[in-house]
Amino acid sequence: MNIYILGIESSCDDTSAAVLINNKILANIIANQSIHEKYGGVVPELASRAHQQNIIPVVDTALKTAGINKEQLHAIAFTRGPGLLGSLLVGTSFSKSFALGMGIPLVEVDHMQAHILAHFIQNDNGTRDLPDFPFLCLTISGGHTQIVLVKNYLEMEVIGKTIDDAAGEAFDKAAKIMGLPYPGGPEIDKLAKQGDPNRFSFPKPQIPELDFSFSGLKTSFLYFLRDELKSNENFIQENLHDLAASMQQTIISILMEKLSKAARQSGVNQIAIAGGVSANSEMRKQLSEAGERNGWDVFIPEFQFTTDNAAMIAIAGYFKYLKKEFASLDVTPYARGSF
Ligand code: KG4
Ligand code: ZN
Repeated sequence: MNIYILGIESSCDDTSAAVLINNKILANIIANQSIHEKYGGVVPELASRAHQQNIIPVVDTALKTAGINKEQLHAIAFTRGPGLLGSLLVGTSFSKSFALGMGIPLVEVDHMQAHILAHFIQNDNGTRDLPDFPFLCLTISGGHTQIVLVKNYLEMEVIGKTIDDAAGEAFDKAAKIMGLPYPGGPEIDKLAKQGDPNRFSFPKPQIPELDFSFSGLKTSFLYFLRDELKSNENFIQENLHDLAASMQQTIISILMEKLSKAARQSGVNQIAIAGGVSANSEMRKQLSEAGERNGWDVFIPEFQFTTDNAAMIAIAGYFKYLKKEFASLDVTPYARGSF
C-alpha cells in the first residue's frame, strides 16, 4: 500500500512543506525568508510572522506539485524541535489543526533526527545507495554540531557535540566579521574556491573525546583581523579569498579529525554527513577523499536535502507512521534539546 505523508518544517527561517509517497518525494517546497538579510541574522519575531504568511500557500503548492488532494494523505508530520519557539509554534499549530480537520494522525519529528533520516529518501529510479545500520553521521548545521551513532531509523545516540557554537555558526560569524552577507556559509564556500587554505593559520581547540568547540576560533579570527586592520585598513578586501579558504579549512579539519576519531573508536565504517554545512563543497570533497583513504562507505546528501527542508521531516514521519508513533493533540514544541 502506498503511504502519503505531508511534512511541515518551520524551525528557523525557512517555511517548507513536502509530500512523500513512501520513501520518495512528490514535492518539496521551500519559502526562504529574505527579510533577515538586512539584519545579518535571523530575527525570531520576523521569522514567526513570515511563517504565518507562508505556511498555507507553501502547503497548497506542495499538494498541487505532488498532484494529490489532501484527502489522500495518511498523516501529517511536523518539526516539534529544536528551533525558535515562535517559529515552531506556527508549524505545530498548523499541523494540529490539519490533523484534526482531516481526521489523520499527527506525527512529531525531531529536526536533528530528520537531517540524518534525509539519507533514506530514495530517488525516482530507486538507484540511490542507502546506508545500513549502524552508521555514523556528522550533523553540522547553524544550530548544532553532533556526531551521531545511528543504530536504527529512530534509535540514535549522540556520541559527540559542540560545547559552544555550532560549525554553521562559525562560518556565519566569520563571514559577518568580514562584512559578508547572511548566511555566511555559502559565501565563504564560494570565496574559498579561489583562495589559499594554508595562507593563514588559526588555533584549533583542544577538546577531549568527540566534542567540539568553535567559539575560541571565532574570537581569534576577530582579534587577528583587528590587529591586521590597524596597519592596513584594506586587509580584509585584499585577502578575502585567502581568509575565507583558511577559515573554512580550519573548521573542516576540526570536524574531520573528530569524525575520524569516532570512526576509529566505534569501528563503524559507514560515514554520513548531514545539515546545512554538509552543502559545503570542500567538506564534501574532503569527506570523499577520507573515505577512499580509510575504506569508509561515504554518504553525502543530495544538495537539496542539506539545508532545512520538509522532505526530511516527511521521511522521518514516514518511519514513525509505520511504527504507529503518533503525537497527541496537546503536544507542544521544544526549543532546545534533542532526541
Ligand atoms: O541545517 P540548516 O539549514 O539550518 C539549521 O538547522 O541550522 O543549516 C544552516 C547553516 C548556516 O549556518 C549556513 O551558513 C550553513 O548551514 N551553510 C553552509 C553552506 N550552506 C549552508 N556552510 C558552509 N558552506 C556552505 N555551502
Ligand atoms: Zn537544520
